[in-house]
Amino acid sequence: MDDISHCCFSSLSILITAILASVGSVFTASWATGDSGASNGSIGGGRWELLLENAGIASMHTAVTHYGTVVMLDRTNIGPSSINLSDGRCRYNPLELALKVDCSAHSVLFTPETRSLRPLFIYTDTWCSSGQFDASGTLLQTGGDNEGVAKVRRFTPCPPDDVCDWEELDAPALQDGRWYATNQLLPDSRHIVVGGRSVFTLEFLPPNGQAKTFLPFLQTSSDEQTDNLYPFVHLLPDDTLFIFANRDSIVYDYRMNTVVRALPRIPGEPRNYPSAGSSVMLPLRANESYARAEILVCGGAQLYCFLYPAPFPNASQTCGRLVITPAEEQQPEWEMDYMPFRRAMGDMLFLPTGDVLIINGAQNGCQGWDNARNPAFYPVVYNPDAPLGARFTTKAPSTIPRLYHSTANLLPDGRVLVAGSNTHQFYTYSGSFPTELRVEAFIPDYLHEAFNMMRPVIVIAPERVVYSQPFNVYVYVNDTVQGELELNMVSSPFTTHSFSQGLRFLKMKVERQIELGEGDGNLSFFQLHATAPPSPTVAPPSYYMLFVVNQGIPSKAVWVQVIYPSA
Ligand SMILES: *[C@@H]1O[C@H](CO)[C@@H](O)[C@H](O)[C@H]1NC(C)=O
Ligand SMILES: *[C@@H]1O[C@H](CO)[C@@H](O)[C@H](O)[C@H]1NC(C)=O
Ligand SMILES: *[C@@H]1O[C@H](CO)[C@@H](O)[C@H](O)[C@H]1NC(C)=O
Ligand SMILES: *[C@@H]1O[C@H](CO)[C@@H](O)[C@H](O)[C@H]1NC(C)=O
Ligand SMILES: *[C@@H]1O[C@H](CO)[C@@H](O)[C@H](O)[C@H]1NC(C)=O
Ligand SMILES: *[C@@H]1O[C@H](CO)[C@@H](O)[C@H](O)[C@H]1NC(C)=O
Repeated sequence: MDDISHCCFSSLSILITAILASVGSVFTASWATGDSGASNGSIGGGRWELLLENAGIASMHTAVTHYGTVVMLDRTNIGPSSINLSDGRCRYNPLELALKVDCSAHSVLFTPETRSLRPLFIYTDTWCSSGQFDASGTLLQTGGDNEGVAKVRRFTPCPPDDVCDWEELDAPALQDGRWYATNQLLPDSRHIVVGGRSVFTLEFLPPNGQAKTFLPFLQTSSDEQTDNLYPFVHLLPDDTLFIFANRDSIVYDYRMNTVVRALPRIPGEPRNYPSAGSSVMLPLRANESYARAEILVCGGAQLYCFLYPAPFPNASQTCGRLVITPAEEQQPEWEMDYMPFRRAMGDMLFLPTGDVLIINGAQNGCQGWDNARNPAFYPVVYNPDAPLGARFTTKAPSTIPRLYHSTANLLPDGRVLVAGSNTHQFYTYSGSFPTELRVEAFIPDYLHEAFNMMRPVIVIAPERVVYSQPFNVYVYVNDTVQGELELNMVSSPFTTHSFSQGLRFLKMKVERQIELGEGDGNLSFFQLHATAPPSPTVAPPSYYMLFVVNQGIPSKAVWVQVIYPSA
């Protein structure tokens, strides 16, 4: 499409029509302007929308596929859910603990655009399991409890109207049974699976003959209530791993099996399960050659809360931020900050702008059955670029408690899907915190209808980009654009237990922004010229949501697959 220039077209509509005709119908989805996210709430706080009254299950694990559908997953050993399997199917699992013959579903596929729900069939127990999308957009899902503890499962997503379902893999099984482990996609397309309850090893999937590896840190970071579960794992741009557990963290070279650096202990409370803080790696930036990695860890619970929950102590109110790379001679120090609210079991995720949303959880107590009180109804947004002390803004509150076993995921239309909350061992629809089947969207300010004119619309984007190769995105804005449009890429994580496994965000560089034409009113059409991520250590091969942002107002995303040259 590089030969398009304003020389040849007198009006924008002719130009766009010509482009659409030349590329076929593939892009009409992103061309459609129907905006389900537009809102009329007050500007400043965002608003909430109920998407589903009854999802059938309380989603303990949630992941958004590159078809925009959402895989929701609970555990199987929980008794009948509120949605049955279709076509009279039932699950006969002699090893199942709760229900030997179970005709209800424990996983569902949700399509936000049509608000439709389809039951999925999961066979072995996924309680406190882990997962990650792979290079082809397939969700690889590992471990759990009981007969599922060493299982590997696969969900290969399909278009919303097609039928796709979970597959249980007979081989390879995990080398160690794992629940409460964390997965991370690696540059070579393998997954690393780190830790788990009473398991101090890591392993690779597929193993390719490599045996599991003992990592002493996974043991030494534990305490009386095992505050080192669901470790925070982030792939750093220099191809090492940042691993955080409890209050300690290391830089780990997974190729050489060596601890490159032990980092200073974070001040304050324990931060991992069952104390339940959360963490993200802040956006990697093209203007820093994607080499600067900073980790943010927020929230947590007081030590011993899990062992002795009453009287539900105050949760942590602090965040720590640490520069990991480039490594300085001196040991880095945690820069501490205060959130507007205390929070345990918060979910941290990226908005399309690169701001961090902290949502869900409780102000008192910790993770586990009925261990929390005082829900944290107010989401807060953290702007990583603002000065210390001015980074947080408070958003409109929800009315639905989202405590243990709840999730939050960014949707490609910029909304945030909020699901789950079950602080009981079974489905219990009574008491002060009943099992929650409702699914909501938190709708950030940028989707307010007042900003509709500023919202960029992506007309054409590549379906896949090759490392370091140039690519173009064609976009229109019905506004007098001031300054430069931004291009951001964010992965789709596997979200469970307050941590988004595999989440990463890239602030790319628009190298050239060429205005191709103008239409009626303030309609302008642009070509944005950019370069794909430089390496799989910056962005492991996978699908990413690509957003164009105009003065803080994002487009809807298109999914772009980042691939190796040979693929
Ligand atoms: C907001 O928009 C919704 C849907 O478009 C409409 O039903 C509602 O009345 C509006 N509320 C206000 C206060 O304008
Ligand atoms: C599921 O099927 C069972 C048996 O037919 C029935 O009793 C139950 O009401 C159904 N549940 C739902 C949520 O449809
Ligand atoms: C990269 O951009 C950010 C945000 O604008 C800025 O804070 C930072 O200083 C820039 N880095 C370089 C090396 O220019
Ligand atoms: C818990 O936080 C509240 C403020 O929200 C404060 O008044 C109270 O003193 C705190 N409790 C403890 C034990 O620190
Ligand atoms: C651009 O905005 C004008 C009003 O300012 C509207 O009439 C027109 O339909 C819009 N065009 C597109 C393509 O959204
Ligand atoms: C174009 O933008 C200007 C400045 O924002 C605004 O005053 C004007 O109404 C817009 N024109 C149209 C047709 O929307």
